[in-house]
Amino acid sequence: MAVDWTERQASRLAGMKASEIRELLKVLERPEIISFAGGIPDPALFPHAEIAAAYQRVMASAQHRSMALQYSVSEGWLPLREFICEQQNQGGLGATPENVVITSGSQQGLEFIGKLLIGAGDLVAVTRPTYLGALQAFAPYEPRYVSVPVDDEGVLPGALEDAFRQNPKFFYLVPDFQNPNGITTSLARRRAVLALAERYGVPIIEDAAYTELRYDGEPLPSLMALDAERAGPGAGFRPRHVIYAGTFSKTVAPALRVGWLTGPAEVIHKVVLMKQAADLHSSTINQIVINDVVRAIWPELTARLRAAYRIRRDAMLAALNAWFPPGVRWTEPAGGLFVWLELPQDICATKLLERAIGEVNVAFVPGSAFHADRSGANTCRLAFSMVGAEAIDEGVRRLSTLLPR
Ligand SMILES: Cc1ncc(COP(=O)(O)O)c(C=O)c1O
Repeated sequence: MAVDWTERQASRLAGMKASEIRELLKVLERPEIISFAGGIPDPALFPHAEIAAAYQRVMASAQHRSMALQYSVSEGWLPLREFICEQQNQGGLGATPENVVITSGSQQGLEFIGKLLIGAGDLVAVTRPTYLGALQAFAPYEPRYVSVPVDDEGVLPGALEDAFRQNPKFFYLVPDFQNPNGITTSLARRRAVLALAERYGVPIIEDAAYTELRYDGEPLPSLMALDAERAGPGAGFRPRHVIYAGTFSKTVAPALRVGWLTGPAEVIHKVVLMKQAADLHSSTINQIVINDVVRAIWPELTARLRAAYRIRRDAMLAALNAWFPPGVRWTEPAGGLFVWLELPQDICATKLLERAIGEVNVAFVPGSAFHADRSGANTCRLAFSMVGAEAIDEGVRRLSTLLPR
């Protein structure tokens, strides 16, 4: 008898769907397309020479290469965890390597958060919109969602309090230059989020994927650092409400798959067990290479990226101002890779994408995919990271021809 795979599959598969938009975006390889779709870093900006030199250094020494090519501990490469502690302790956390586990990208960290905290049917609070990859990471654990609205300063505290009254398992947010809408949670809102976390005992999952890519203004303290500050002076790891997900994907290179979670040791110990079960550990040699690269060039590297992406962010905002009709609203991100559009209510972004690809050779991602409640049919995410300034202007101009005046 032939196996009926669909009938056999576990119920958790019900929440895991391929995106319908992926079909539309298959055309992205066509050279005539100007694509604002891929929310990925520009490979021209990867520190190629430094990465190559680091691999060569490791492989040149017999002692180093046998370590680098061997199995290693599930917690992650100790010198790299120490680097992460040094960076994050500038925010006064009191973190030691016990508070950090290296994951295969922060995506795996989010998957572990789902495994750690979500039981079938549990409520999870997310922003509206939120990072699609987080929804995908949580989906196998079968959550229900409460979507909390945001404005230009981040999540709305009143709505967040309403959500927290329902006692969600956690609140997931991307406070800096959020994927997909580019919004940064202001300092006052960060404090408000933490006050609510404390009042209702709800953990915060802080996803800091884009934090280093700030083009304007001063960096804001992470929620984790503010949480440590609220706890007051004391020994040991001080944050009490926050788990922090970090990554080297947007600063060094995503293919090395090195990210991390920082949190209370009791949580990190549980995640280490998950890491062991999932893939034993992240690539030893890639962790060593990342550690070499970031210790050698971190300030120059991040400054270089900021300078390059700032030009593209400026080009996109200038093009939107020049070409787009009144009635379309967009965010003005202070960093990151994305601008978010709100079209007039009666325009469906998925239909607009079909026309954009077919008629003017432009691609973007319709925003509804980033909504846990599937709202946002009139929203779009435009990524400026992979397109030069001139093509940004041309792509925005072409897109504007499809919008009603
Ligand atoms: C907000 C956010 N979090 C996490 C990730 C995952 O990145 P990685 O797994 O490469 O660290 C991404 C990737 O685009 C992202 O946009």
